[in-house]
Amino acid sequence: MTAPAPQEPSFFDAIGGEPTFRRLVDKFYEGVATDPLLRPMYPEEDLGPAADRLTLFLMQYWGGPNTYSSTRGHPRLRMRHAPFVVDEKARDAWLEHMRNAVDSLGLPQAQHDQLWDYLERAAYFMVNA
Ligand code: HEM
Repeated sequence: MTAPAPQEPSFFDAIGGEPTFRRLVDKFYEGVATDPLLRPMYPEEDLGPAADRLTLFLMQYWGGPNTYSSTRGHPRLRMRHAPFVVDEKARDAWLEHMRNAVDSLGLPQAQHDQLWDYLERAAYFMVNA
């Protein structure tokens, strides 16, 4: 029997797995919780479940467990954002809190940039108004 080829660690593993994604999203929602534009957009009083959905989505996107899809189905994120007015102001507010959150992780530059570039592109893509 030949040994399996060594696998590249996923980005998910490389940046520290679930605890890193939890730190990222918790920090992000600390900002959202005090944001006068974004906070009213969230339908639930408790931001915990929304934080959990975003964490699981990002973990899955970056090569971690597929818990997001097994609990929520196919992401279809633009469709899921359709009920909310995501204009440029909302996008920029979202990105401001996300930028603080990404910076707070203290990742090596290349990983920081890879994560940030994705989030910035995804936020531009989500604009629907
Ligand atoms: C551009 C500005 C954005 C705004 C204002 C926004 C706002 C929202 C709101 C109000 C919700 C509903 C909260 C909930 O119940 O989960 C939501 C859900 C969600 N958002 Fe965003 N979002 C933005 C961008 C993004 C981006 C860039 C991503 C991914 C990289 C993302 C991922 C998600 C996910 C995974 C959910 C939960 C979907 C579900 O399973 O129901 N959002 N967002």
